[in-house]
Amino acid sequence: MTYSKIIGTGSYLPERILTNADLEKIVDTTDAWIQERTGIRQRHVVAEGETTGDMAFHAAQRAMDAAGVEPGDIDLIILGTTTPDLIFPSTASLLQHRLGLRDVGAMDVNAACTGFLYALSIADKFIKVGDARRALVIGAESITSLVDWEDRQTCVLFGDGAGAVVIEASDEPGILSTHIHANGEHAGLLGTDVGVSRGFREGEKNAGIAIQMKGNEVFKVAVRTLSRIVDETLEANGMDRSDVDWLIPHQANLRIISATGRKLGLSEDRVIVTVDRHGNTSAASVPLALDEAVRSGKIQRGETLLLEAFGGGFTWGSALVRY
Ligand code: ACO
Repeated sequence: MTYSKIIGTGSYLPERILTNADLEKIVDTTDAWIQERTGIRQRHVVAEGETTGDMAFHAAQRAMDAAGVEPGDIDLIILGTTTPDLIFPSTASLLQHRLGLRDVGAMDVNAACTGFLYALSIADKFIKVGDARRALVIGAESITSLVDWEDRQTCVLFGDGAGAVVIEASDEPGILSTHIHANGEHAGLLGTDVGVSRGFREGEKNAGIAIQMKGNEVFKVAVRTLSRIVDETLEANGMDRSDVDWLIPHQANLRIISATGRKLGLSEDRVIVTVDRHGNTSAASVPLALDEAVRSGKIQRGETLLLEAFGGGFTWGSALVRY
């Protein structure tokens, strides 16, 4: 059987840092409230003119360098993002050219915060069936461009960044399984209420483009759903929770992350946490956390990683990986 294996990781964070103290000057909030409810201390924000594609480019280059591959070695590129540079062409198409790849398939996947896991799942299938040997999989997001900086309920949560992996066909695992889901029933709890086809609101700030979230309700569904997907992932592999070495969760809220860590019976030092410094970077958060943990030497070859995410849609997904 052919598996896909992660052979390199990379990430990028914009230079500008916005602390909770900075936000105290913009909206009626406190550092104490933000830290207590979310675990976030600071987040990175794109510079004027800096795009999702720019961040994805740097993360992809670093992942390719770490993997020791050349642009000509890549034969598929998939980018998870909710904040593409343009409506079209896709940001993945723009990256294909900018990275100097051959005329390989390139696509964006919009699954909000689960975008990277959707992208990884699709790329893994391409490799398993033999249609690709090496794929570049990216999660990148300038999600702060969708933030209303006057809405204290949402503006304190989000940050920008990008993470990437190169995966390659291998006889040994590799990615053991991926699981993706969506249910649009409660679409109104998290998302935007304007768009290209439904239209924008003329005369409103940013034409009405702003993340709307019923945070409390999203929180409850997220905890329940992530608990279910942990069970689903372990069952699919005939594994027990004690087989997992590291949890690499979507970084939305430290309380949600801790609940999933407890469900797995993992001690806190086995759960990768970046939300304190990155905030919620949507589709970028899982590959950013993975890259940081790999580069710091925490995650070692041969260890078993559980990646998971939950986001607008609702969408949710996971991957069990032998690193
Ligand atoms: N500063 C101070 N007070 C605030 C702030 C703020 N920034 N924001 C809200 N409050 C107030 C509220 O107005 C409310 O006041 P009230 O009691 O007087 O009405 C009080 O704090 C409590 O508000 P809640 O919304 O109940 O607070 P909660 O503990 O639920 O925390 C949070 C809010 C952090 C948003 C949490 O619900 C959460 O993390 N939800 C899940 C987010 C998530 O996982 N999203 C999915 C991924 S995102 C994506 O897909 C793009």
